[in-house]
Amino acid sequence: MLTNAMETILNQQIEKEGYSSNLYLAMAVWAESNGFNGISKWLYAQSEEERLHMLKFIHFVGEREGTAIIPEFKKPPVDYGNVKNLFDEVFKHEKYISASINDIVGKSLDERDYTTHTWIQWFVNEQIEEEASVKEILDKLTLVGDKNMYMFDRDILGMRVAAGE
Ligand SMILES: [Fe+2]
Ligand SMILES: [Fe+2]
Repeated sequence: MLTNAMETILNQQIEKEGYSSNLYLAMAVWAESNGFNGISKWLYAQSEEERLHMLKFIHFVGEREGTAIIPEFKKPPVDYGNVKNLFDEVFKHEKYISASINDIVGKSLDERDYTTHTWIQWFVNEQIEEEASVKEILDKLTLVGDKNMYMFDRDILGMRVAAGE
């Protein structure tokens, strides 16, 4: 049984993971329409993974006799300017999500909810991987500069999607 505070914070995370999924979907559309097929493939896959994250939270709230609420989602931006800017945004967003997972860890201790505390550790580790994989992409971008986006886009095709194993 979840306390009200835990149910609230877990529902907030349902919204954040769902928004992440939509954000990466919007980014995938932008990349695709600008000819970056490798990048768009990576983003479509990320979007799927974020949807799976959202579902993990939904099922967990249900298992703990809480009520999962499917919220309204904010509309993500349409234009991301350029590839560097797009991945800077992804990195910023993942750091925001990591902080949010951290808040759930803290709240689970406040509430003495050791079940959630144990369960949420998967997401703690997941965020380490998510940030590392985006950082790797940003490092590659620094190496290629903005001259060779074609090669960069091809290179991304070979990268595994970090999330949701
Ligand atoms: Fe996520
Ligand atoms: Fe993520």
